[in-house]
Amino acid sequence: MNAERSNTSSSPILWVVAAFALLILGGLIIAEATPLILPPQASAESQQVDNLFKVMLAIGGAIFLLVQGAIVYSVIRFRAKPGEREDGVAMHGNATLEFVWTAIPAVIVLILSILSFQVWVSITSAQDNELVVHATGARFNWSFSYNIPEQDDLTVNARELHTYVGQPIRMVLSTADVNHAFYIPAMRVKQDLLPGRETEVRFTPTIPGDYPIFCAELCGSGHGDMRARIIVHPDEETYLAWFNPEADVVLNPPEDPVARGFQILASGQYPCAGCHVLEELDWTGVTGPNQNGLADRVVNNRVAATGEVPAEYLGRSLYHPGEYLVPGFGNLMPQFQPDDPAGANYMPMEDMQAIVAYLCTLSASGESVCDPQNIQDLPSLVD
Ligand code: CUA
Repeated sequence: MNAERSNTSSSPILWVVAAFALLILGGLIIAEATPLILPPQASAESQQVDNLFKVMLAIGGAIFLLVQGAIVYSVIRFRAKPGEREDGVAMHGNATLEFVWTAIPAVIVLILSILSFQVWVSITSAQDNELVVHATGARFNWSFSYNIPEQDDLTVNARELHTYVGQPIRMVLSTADVNHAFYIPAMRVKQDLLPGRETEVRFTPTIPGDYPIFCAELCGSGHGDMRARIIVHPDEETYLAWFNPEADVVLNPPEDPVARGFQILASGQYPCAGCHVLEELDWTGVTGPNQNGLADRVVNNRVAATGEVPAEYLGRSLYHPGEYLVPGFGNLMPQFQPDDPAGANYMPMEDMQAIVAYLCTLSASGESVCDPQNIQDLPSLVD
């Protein structure tokens, strides 16, 4: 027994040094290898976030190897000999060991806190010349709105987030209903949206491209569908080539109510796309009824049953969605209202009329199933 002991502990310091060198090397390999599976670093902030992440991975990786190594070593070294039946030696308390395993993590946590705070301050500080974009989360949809320069109340709305390389962006986030989380892995940003207050997040894209945006907070049955895209244009010129025509449509809206309704829905100003399917507008949500061929179904089913005119049914479905639920669907739709511009789910009467005018044309023939007079009268019909 004694001979065996002295064999393995002939130069304990050397063993410990070798083991720690291996742990550090292993931690560094884990830290360098793991980021290879991360999305591209498409923002200026992503480098800082990833570097911090690598420090944590190196420490965490080394600790992981230490713990696993100790387990594997113990399983082999202290394995019961054949025929050995008695209990192991009872061991109790070791003040030095407990001090060491408390002090080391405390120092590590302190260092990580300081590093994290530095990165956090750096990536959340205001920058000059920020582009401000509002994002609204609503079950289960993202929509983005941009102020039009020198037009106080007018905004360009979009279902995608557009920006360009080198432009610092400040996102102001609000939710129309429950908590959501705005998450762009390629930009390394994730921020909660909280009812009743605005939150914000900043980043500066560095690589042109098209990257996914997710919701990272379980918000209901359509949570997994709550996605959008960020399009990073290569320069301001290409960004403006998108923005200016959009602003132009807002400043000079189409006269024809059907075209106007189409434009309102296409802009994503209202969160319809996340819950309904409509091929013409590229909507793919499945928590609400399918809108393809809606106008014919309204005439054949609902109107036939109640005697309502089609425009009235559609208008009431926007302002009083809970009044009649299509079989198989829950009462999840936001209740839009025309009275309080500052309130949640505000939809002015003119928008509702234009949207109804457009929905009335979702028939097999493409002809409107609604009487234009009924659409004009909607303000009194839907009250
Ligand atoms: Cu919104 Cu999950």
